[in-house]
Amino acid sequence: MISTQIQTAAYLFASILFILSLGGLSSQESAKHGVFYGIAGMIITILATVFGAGVEGHIYIIVAIAIASVIGIIVARKVEMTAMPQLVAILHSFVGLAAVLVGFGSYLDPATHLLQGAEHNIHFVEVFVGVFIGAITFTGSIVAWGKLDGKIRSKPLLYKGRHLVNIILVITSVILGVLFTMAEGNEGLPFLMIMTAIALFIGVMLVMAIGGADMPVVVSMLNSYSGWAAAAAGFMLGNDLLIVTGALVGSSGAILSIIMCNAMNRSFLSVIFGGFGEVMHGSEADMVGEVTSIDHEAAAELLKNAQSIVIVPGYGMAVAKAQYPVHDMVDILKKAGKQVRFGIHPVAGRLPGHMNVLLAEANVSYDLVLEMDEINEDLPKTDVVMVIGANDIVNPGAEEDKTSPIYGMPVIQVWNARNVIVMKRSMAVGYAGVQNPLFYKENTDMLYGDAKESVDKLNGFLRG
Ligand code: TAP
Repeated sequence: MISTQIQTAAYLFASILFILSLGGLSSQESAKHGVFYGIAGMIITILATVFGAGVEGHIYIIVAIAIASVIGIIVARKVEMTAMPQLVAILHSFVGLAAVLVGFGSYLDPATHLLQGAEHNIHFVEVFVGVFIGAITFTGSIVAWGKLDGKIRSKPLLYKGRHLVNIILVITSVILGVLFTMAEGNEGLPFLMIMTAIALFIGVMLVMAIGGADMPVVVSMLNSYSGWAAAAAGFMLGNDLLIVTGALVGSSGAILSIIMCNAMNRSFLSVIFGGFGEVMHGSEADMVGEVTSIDHEAAAELLKNAQSIVIVPGYGMAVAKAQYPVHDMVDILKKAGKQVRFGIHPVAGRLPGHMNVLLAEANVSYDLVLEMDEINEDLPKTDVVMVIGANDIVNPGAEEDKTSPIYGMPVIQVWNARNVIVMKRSMAVGYAGVQNPLFYKENTDMLYGDAKESVDKLNGFLRG
């Protein structure tokens, strides 16, 4: 058992570690340190909580932690990089569920009903708001998981008057909240339960109304909600560390959502209220020009004759796990005296920083990795752009076609380079479900096949 003073000091120290962790994660070079700060903070938090004053039944807690850790390790080891967003979404749902359970537990605790006056009202509002946010996060995250995992159709579920329904449900919840706070003894329980059912429903409808290319924002938005749910649980339990950590997660998730909205040129509110990012399938007949393809030998020849080369990776590189041969290709080209760089779109792949993680995993030097705005300026002076498994992020329709669902999203303007080679398996559309006029441009050649196999073959020709 540790004293309350030591526990408070441990919590303060852990809060600092969590802040350092977030700071570390903001850049590639310091990310590893950031992760270690986070792990250290979490270990201190768990120890200080489990061995804190008034905690009983240590054996049960330790067994529960052991079982959960084994499940966590197995899941984390098994998950593919491409399935990371789903995992994150389902983990958010646990935070939401925990906030709901803490809320009910706190309400049913006899000590809660001994509170008087303002203290009573404040605590009841904390419970009510905590359960409300937690329930929305819980079902919203499950729907997001289903959509990202392909278990639920990604197309937004829209019906007329849904905003009105949502407003009525929120107003009903506020009225229930007032009744709940005023109720004597355990009489408020039915109000809490009705509100929970309403909030569970709002969570489902909120995320069902969002789809297509807006899904990344939903994940970071739910990340933010899960933070606020944790902060609310912190208020209910009177736990300062949980409040600090929840606020850190809540605000960083909100900031990330706004950054991603800017990257996709969407207004944050329009994403939250759904109805945009609808999956549409443009028709091939609308495309102007002819698709030309190239074989591996000819593509390698183009690279051999080029002086400046830009690689634009996308989701397909992650699927194919092509980052390792891509690293080898960069080595070969650089040894041949060529300028080789990467252009990274902020929403390439399926999670924020997806491409950066893959390239770091393959030990690609970080000096070669440029952001979209930096590389766009240089593309007119580039000899060859190799698009590896990317589609939406290099779609000129986002700039030219006002009817395109991705119209307005900034893209990497690869078509400004002298030659473009697009590596993908077919003419299939990308995540947003729209045709890509890039493939029909005169300076673009398709190099069909799995990205990893294609890069391996190119490496063979380049070495030869
Ligand atoms: P996408 O537009 O999804 O295009 C990926 C392309 O990769 C597909 O057209 C596919 O064509 C190709 N591909 C798949 N497997 C391949 C393989 N084994 N080898 C070669 N090619 C393969 O990806 P993007 O350009 O990276 O754009 C990302 C999209 O995802 C955006 O719309 C973005 O909004 C959305 N999104 C992003 C995130 C975040 S946070 N990054 C999260 C969720 C959604 P084939 O089938 O013809 O091979």
